[in-house]
Amino acid sequence: MDILEKAKRHREEEDRLKWEGTFADYLEILKQRPEVAQNAHSRVYNMIRSHGITEVDGTRRYGFFGEEIFGLEEAVERLVEEYFHPAAKRLDVRKRILLLMGPVSGGKSTIVTLLKRGLEAYSRTDEGAVYAIKGCPMHEDPLHLIPLHLREEFRRSYGIRIEGALSPLNAMRLEQEYGGRIEDMPVERIFLSEDKRVGVGTFTPSDPKSQDIADLTGSIDFSTIAEFGSESDPRAYRFDGELNKANRGLMEFQEMLKLDEKFLWHLLSLTQEGNFKAGRFALISADELIVAHTNETEYRSFIADKKNEALHSRIIVMPVPYNLKVSEEERIYRKMISDSDMSHVHIAPHALRVAAIFSVLTRLKPSRKQGADIVKKMRLYDGENVEGFSAVDVNELKKEFADEGMSGIDPRYVINRISSAIIRKDVPAINALDVLRSLKDGLTDHASISDEDRTRYMEYIGIARREYDDIAKKEVQKAFVYSYEESAKTLMDNYLDHVEAFCNKNKLRDPLTGEELPPDEKLMRSIEEQIGISENAKKAFREEILIRISAYARKGKRFDYNSHDRLREAIQKKLFADLKDVVKITTSSATPDESQLKKVNEVVARLVDEHGYNSTSANDLLRYVGSLLNR
Ligand SMILES: Nc1ncnc2c1ncn2[C@@H]1O[C@H](COP(=O)(O)OP(=O)(O)O)[C@@H](O)[C@H]1O
Ligand SMILES: [Mg+2]
Repeated sequence: MDILEKAKRHREEEDRLKWEGTFADYLEILKQRPEVAQNAHSRVYNMIRSHGITEVDGTRRYGFFGEEIFGLEEAVERLVEEYFHPAAKRLDVRKRILLLMGPVSGGKSTIVTLLKRGLEAYSRTDEGAVYAIKGCPMHEDPLHLIPLHLREEFRRSYGIRIEGALSPLNAMRLEQEYGGRIEDMPVERIFLSEDKRVGVGTFTPSDPKSQDIADLTGSIDFSTIAEFGSESDPRAYRFDGELNKANRGLMEFQEMLKLDEKFLWHLLSLTQEGNFKAGRFALISADELIVAHTNETEYRSFIADKKNEALHSRIIVMPVPYNLKVSEEERIYRKMISDSDMSHVHIAPHALRVAAIFSVLTRLKPSRKQGADIVKKMRLYDGENVEGFSAVDVNELKKEFADEGMSGIDPRYVINRISSAIIRKDVPAINALDVLRSLKDGLTDHASISDEDRTRYMEYIGIARREYDDIAKKEVQKAFVYSYEESAKTLMDNYLDHVEAFCNKNKLRDPLTGEELPPDEKLMRSIEEQIGISENAKKAFREEILIRISAYARKGKRFDYNSHDRLREAIQKKLFADLKDVVKITTSSATPDESQLKKVNEVVARLVDEHGYNSTSANDLLRYVGSLLNR
């Protein structure tokens, strides 16, 4: 569909969703759908829930985070079940500031952004609809119009609890424009939008000395004081601070602990009492979920500071550690690359995996558990089976260090190194070795890594390299013996024809020319030598095979590739030895003969068609495996 057509549909959809009426009309809506009067915390939780919750191996998985946040199942479950869920039920955690604490580039901002985008979309659904007093800069909850003395009764008949007092601006409008008739106050449906500053806000600390509290709570509009006569006239106040604008939804505080204390106190009053001080007014009620984030160092120095004591009991800290699963780490890179301008570059299979192996290793803490070396731990965390370890052991490993995942190499570093490898190589393809090299070079220049860590990280580069060597060899073997069974069978049939001719002192007939040929001694020996059959023993071995074949025939059974263990072993070994030769040929300067060349081309084609390589990376792989086999 045309992009303009889509934009038009979108506008039409918005128009369709628009609603305007009086407060009396709004109460009719509430009779049908009381859920639209939910508070911000409950809206966030229900939004998450609306994307589905499933349970896998005892941990809850949330559809909402599932396609965006990888490998943080436990942290996310904790965040939802220890904060969002109880806060939605108006339990006490709601009165604390939610602080996501974790290492740099561990996904904190991503989580918050997801919540914002999620809320925006949710406010466009039926269950997530939000209504506000029309024309109010803070999109005030219409229910604030219900006078305090009637709220208990309202609760009994509607089942809805009202929190918060009518703002001075709307109180004035109610009196002056509507003669106090709340039923006539205009109400509209609103659509949360960070761009339009409706129900979604962000606050970023700037220079603490110059940062103005007005950014947060709005300010007096001096140009209108003359018109309205007084600074305390609500019409002379601009309710356009971030806290005003985020009312009904969510407010993000970036790097919260860098903020000056006086800002923090506003937040506290808001979370604790549901209101904050703006200008000369009594307190202004607001309903918003406040989520802040910070790193561990800042958090430690914050709690170490005595003057912050009162604050920290009012903050709930949720750790957001690095992902510790290799396959999930790969997904993170894939996502980051597809979002970047490198998305056209060919990244050879396993390149991201080796990078992931490296970064996960830097985040793991060596276990004291018997036999659980760091590589095994890495595999266990990724859900692999490791001999000698059970699910119980894995749980014990996870519990051994509370702060595992709070340090190590971050995903952004890896992506930057990959991108610098791409730039340096200046070809639209990079492979696992390029990536490892770039990661390694980066460590030398990386200023914030201690010498001790650097040494450890270099070892991990080595481990990742060895993992890759294994993967690469297996990959080439797989591509080479693609139709393995078939190649084995052909080779065996061929061998048996010659053995039969040899034992019966016959000749073979060339299937093409019809020419008579003696049995091919070289061919037979090349197979027998694989299992150490000497020149003297070859006759006995061949006769034994023929006897076996006729024994099979008498019983009406077919002699096949699996009917003779030693023969099967010999055939397998022969196939792999051929592989070695073929692979070596590509690395040697000698020009391969025609059949070898054909084989190499087949393998390259297979790597390209079925294993995700392009011809550059496939040839790189063959050359590399060749050099490994030559060692
Ligand atoms: N567990 C994860 N799942 C998905 N993406 C992640 C994860 N951890 C980090 N990222 C990616 O890394 C980048 C940096 O994350 P970000 O949210 O900005 O980190 P933070 O705010 O913690 O510093 C983002 O592109 C993000 O998508
Ligand atoms: Mg961030």
